[in-house]
Amino acid sequence: MAGGRAQRTATHKRKHADARASLRINMAKKNEKRLKVLVTGGAGYIGSHTVIALQQQGFEVAVIDNLSNSHAGVIDRIGEITGERPEFHEFDLVDRRRTASFFAANAGLAGVIHFAAHKAVGESMKDPLMYYRNNLISLMNILEGMRRRNVANLVFSSSCTVYGQPDELPVKETSPIKEAVSAYGNTKQMSEDILRFSVHAYGIRAIALRYFNPVGAHESALIGELPRGVPNNLTPFITQTAIGKRECLSVFGSDYNTPDGTPIRDYIHVVDLARAHVTAVERMIGKKAKSDYEIFNLGTGKGYSVLEVIRSFEKVSGRKLNYRIVGRRSGDIEQLWADTSYARRELGWKAERDLDAMMLSAWKWEQALAQSKE
Ligand code: UFG
Repeated sequence: MAGGRAQRTATHKRKHADARASLRINMAKKNEKRLKVLVTGGAGYIGSHTVIALQQQGFEVAVIDNLSNSHAGVIDRIGEITGERPEFHEFDLVDRRRTASFFAANAGLAGVIHFAAHKAVGESMKDPLMYYRNNLISLMNILEGMRRRNVANLVFSSSCTVYGQPDELPVKETSPIKEAVSAYGNTKQMSEDILRFSVHAYGIRAIALRYFNPVGAHESALIGELPRGVPNNLTPFITQTAIGKRECLSVFGSDYNTPDGTPIRDYIHVVDLARAHVTAVERMIGKKAKSDYEIFNLGTGKGYSVLEVIRSFEKVSGRKLNYRIVGRRSGDIEQLWADTSYARRELGWKAERDLDAMMLSAWKWEQALAQSKE
């Protein structure tokens, strides 16, 4: 009896000790100060993948998005994938007062990754002022908030469009910036100029990431690209044609000076791209940046023609794609791919996923979308 009582007491004590230990761990976890990063446009295509990469790296994330080209449901999906729904603020960064009060209420941000912007080339030609107003004023409001509240680190979403058709390939970060062919492209060039001068004046560090052609989706097929209306870009048009939403893909021109006559681009998996943003923000937080303002190309370093992309899609999906060659699309450049050696050397980052992986993930995402609508 006495032995049994002693055993019960020991078990009881152990249980209490275990409970106290787990309480201590939980409290430590709660008190552990995680670094917080603001992601503007975090409900969008590249933004949402980056929120996941940040959370998986241990960052706390706040998202600002006005949902003009994205959906609130994406924030829930991120929560499903990572187990943590990011803090979400729905407003327009063009609103100077709202932006200022966000920064006032969120002291101690470790950094900002700024995606929120309009990005359709054709639309920017129809309404350039809409593009200048949205893309430039939001950037200025963010910089002002950072300056006032001593937020030091900014990652900016730029584009290979700043190079135009370069004279030499692959294109390096030091290649000349050509005159922009679209108002959208011009907003990226102007944004880079705004950053270049602002960092020195306000004690901010910034990294501009020049993306080549982001494609693909998260492996969970819970998030991906969600173009509104008829897609402008090649990959969503391919997957929508294969699923039966579009009848036929038009291949814009086969008379370019390339091996098969169709234009060449450097396609990069969005998950690889997302990871580069985490690397960039960590570089600035760790004070490893070489200067206050740095620029990196983000591509794979390999160019693929439109027909090669179609072949890859057909291979991984096992479907024959309905396409036909039509005339050139105005404003398209012939070929562009990145020199990625600087990003590899300095950021220690390189793209890991190949074209087949990009096409397969895009296809799984399209199929998941179709299933969710059934
Ligand atoms: N293409 C087709 N059919 C389509 C869509 C695209 O043949 O239905 C071709 C284009 O002619 C181009 C290639 O597929 O040769 C890639 O076109 P995307 O529209 O997917 O991509 P772009 O290279 O034209 O555009 C990208 C970004 C823009 C950026 C631009 C700068 O999406 O944001 O690069 O070059 F401005």
